[in-house]
Amino acid sequence: MHSRAIVAGNWKMNGSRAAIDEFAPALADAAAGIRCPLAVCVPFVYVSRLAERFADTTVAVGGQDVAAEVEAGAFTGEVSGEMLIDAGATHTVVGHSERREKYGETDAIVVAKTRAAVTAGLVPIVCVGETLEQRENDQVEAVLGRQLGALLDGCSAEELDRIVLAYEPIWAIGTGRTATPEQAQEIHAYLRSQIADRDATLARSLSIVYGGSVKPDNAEAIFAGDDVDGALVGGASLKADSFADIARAMDAVGKTS
Ligand code: PGA
Repeated sequence: MHSRAIVAGNWKMNGSRAAIDEFAPALADAAAGIRCPLAVCVPFVYVSRLAERFADTTVAVGGQDVAAEVEAGAFTGEVSGEMLIDAGATHTVVGHSERREKYGETDAIVVAKTRAAVTAGLVPIVCVGETLEQRENDQVEAVLGRQLGALLDGCSAEELDRIVLAYEPIWAIGTGRTATPEQAQEIHAYLRSQIADRDATLARSLSIVYGGSVKPDNAEAIFAGDDVDGALVGGASLKADSFADIARAMDAVGKTS
């Protein structure tokens, strides 16, 4: 079985040409000694610059978000999967809680964007996660079951085979408050079991990564969980050193050999 491992960075609305030019050579150097597959997802306008900088490296480049529409046309402000591929991306973040919460993205929109990304040839990193209130009200499985169920219902088996699923508890994003390794493993196992109910082969091959305040000093403990296949890293992905250290933690737990 091929490795499910991946550590992806999510720069969110951060970065500049200067930041890319400092980050890329530093990460390229570090990546030469790292086995874990890496991807860095940046604002659309920086995708092609980062892809040029990583051209001779193993580091993949991603966008953040993608248009739900596949064909070019009158969709002011949207960026298609085909354009992302043209700019050098191989991945893109879809359904992040910031988009769901701040920009009204529904499960249906997330499914449409996931399918559009796969159609274009991208690997969508599709995010699911619960709020603190939902966790405190014992609604974690109901919320995740709904978000995941929409994907399982709305995408074909071939499409699902192309995605990376990211479990990102909203209360852990950018808060410095990480899920404990036990909480992360418990939810990853739940997600995998829900997938297995539909498709056991897919459940075995699908990458499920954790996101929410992953840092070099907590990564190894989180990665130790059997069903944790890597991370989607926000703040700590902005610096090549901390991002590389997180990826090294995947190598250290033996999931990339
Ligand atoms: P964080 O963000 O690592 O800064 O918490 C994770 C994410 O939102 O993808």
